[in-house]
Amino acid sequence: MKDLKKEISSKISEVTSIDVDELLKYIEIPKNSEMGDYAFPCFKLAKELRKSPQMIAEEINEKINIEGTDIERVEIAGGYLNFFISKLSIVKEVLEEIDNKKENYGKSNIGENKTIIVEYSSPNIAKPFHIGHLRTTLIGRALYNMYKYLGYNTIGINHLGDYGTQFGKMIEGYKRWGKEYNIYENPIEELTKIYVRINALCKEDEEVLEMCRNNFKKLEQGDKNCVELWQKFREVSLKEFDRIYDLLDIHFDSLNGEAFYSDKTDEVIDILEKTGKLVESEGAKIIDLEEQKMPPCIICKSNGSTIYATRDLAAILYRARTYDFDKCLYVVAYEQNLHFKQVFEVAKLLGISEKCQKGLEHISYGMVHLKEGKMSTREGNVIKVEDLLKESISRVKEIIETKNPEFTEEEKQDIANKVGIGAVIFNDLSGNRIKDEIFDWDIMLNFNGETGPYIQYTYVRTNSVLKKAGYIPNVKDIDFCKLTDKQSQEILKLIYTFTNTIEEATAKNEPSIISRYLIDLSKAFSGFYNENKIMQEDKSIQDARVYLTYATNLTLKNGAQLLGINMPEKM
Ligand code: ARG
Repeated sequence: MKDLKKEISSKISEVTSIDVDELLKYIEIPKNSEMGDYAFPCFKLAKELRKSPQMIAEEINEKINIEGTDIERVEIAGGYLNFFISKLSIVKEVLEEIDNKKENYGKSNIGENKTIIVEYSSPNIAKPFHIGHLRTTLIGRALYNMYKYLGYNTIGINHLGDYGTQFGKMIEGYKRWGKEYNIYENPIEELTKIYVRINALCKEDEEVLEMCRNNFKKLEQGDKNCVELWQKFREVSLKEFDRIYDLLDIHFDSLNGEAFYSDKTDEVIDILEKTGKLVESEGAKIIDLEEQKMPPCIICKSNGSTIYATRDLAAILYRARTYDFDKCLYVVAYEQNLHFKQVFEVAKLLGISEKCQKGLEHISYGMVHLKEGKMSTREGNVIKVEDLLKESISRVKEIIETKNPEFTEEEKQDIANKVGIGAVIFNDLSGNRIKDEIFDWDIMLNFNGETGPYIQYTYVRTNSVLKKAGYIPNVKDIDFCKLTDKQSQEILKLIYTFTNTIEEATAKNEPSIISRYLIDLSKAFSGFYNENKIMQEDKSIQDARVYLTYATNLTLKNGAQLLGINMPEKM
């Protein structure tokens, strides 16, 4: 597809002798389409050209040659140049590209030869998968999909919290009372009970605590019994996590979690020793970070065992060697801001390439607030994510029962699954990720609000139009003039910017940019649909509108899929 921004930049470049790539960075898309399709803020060049923005605008406007381009006209507004693209060009660009790429519309290869690791989800074995883990799971998966769509070599890692001193306690608790708990039925709930019980005992009895410490040491040394128990805990927990991943349709390329790095921390310590920066402090080994105005990073505790941060450093070393990544993104709640700052600082001492060093990035996100009262469980405010997902599905099921009683049971269930899960996903990804999220059933399940169900509903509407039409017209037969009206143009311009939007969303690691886009596109289509008859006497108008509906259908589906939302075919 032709890059219209580039066309404008090169035309401006011709008359200013400023580099196209520099100009490209400045071009904006005005909020109000009365101000043109693209705008160039001339003040960006004021310093370089030593002229006022107004003068620059006038000069460029006078000299620029738009003959034979897709630019229809240029207008000056204050220090801005507003560019109006010929309506026919937009129709042509979009329709031909849709015809070319079909289901692959929007895909690109700008990421070719670049490797991006997205680390996400990463729950802790034998601990609840809480709502914070739901956020990293959904944000991370969306980022993963987006990068992949742009052609990056993308690796999704679930850095399981499957190691640490707490397992010494778990093992001790299980040895003592394992038979009293059915960890196969309700693994995490039961293991948590054991954990709470052994912790209480440890507080009373120093000797028991010592046994726990000893268990962890034995686990580190590969003691058969301890390893077997640890494996059992890991296995039953993963089974429970998998039920959530299945509901959400989440997959990972690697499940190498903390335990995977337990035998790789010695090398980290070695390397750090050699830099001379690893110092003793109260028996522990630390890296001092006073110069960076941070507390020290502990590498080795006084009893010799390593910690969470040490395993993160081992992971960085391993990933740099294994993947030679351009970026390694950590989708983790903002509570761990300091942890990652410290770890990334210490990682500079590991001798990895500058590229990898610079590619480490913490993608943090805000908390989830529940609209009070409605979902609290026995344990207070710990909500089981699995229950929450199932509740969403069953609420949608009820809505569908009344809305579409004619559907078969199987159809109803399929819609309920897709819409129920889609609503949760969209709710999670609709706001700026760093902002706290509000969880409110009434808002997120509103089919007419800015919600997942609304996008799915719009998609289904495009589907019924296409079904009713019974054909997809051939692009060559379409009279582009039939799509120059305001509503069609609004849709086409959005579809035109789809790939750009994904690029922007990855540049900021912000899935909400895609969410916003999908709402805008749905609204644009609803406006078009309500005002225009699609099926009608005039075959050439009908063909054009059916094709536009088809283009919207593909783009909505592809965009939603990036977020992990599956579309129902009817509802
Ligand atoms: N398991 C941790 C938790 O649940 C998150 C792990 C984040 N990733 C990392 N590389 N430290 O809090």
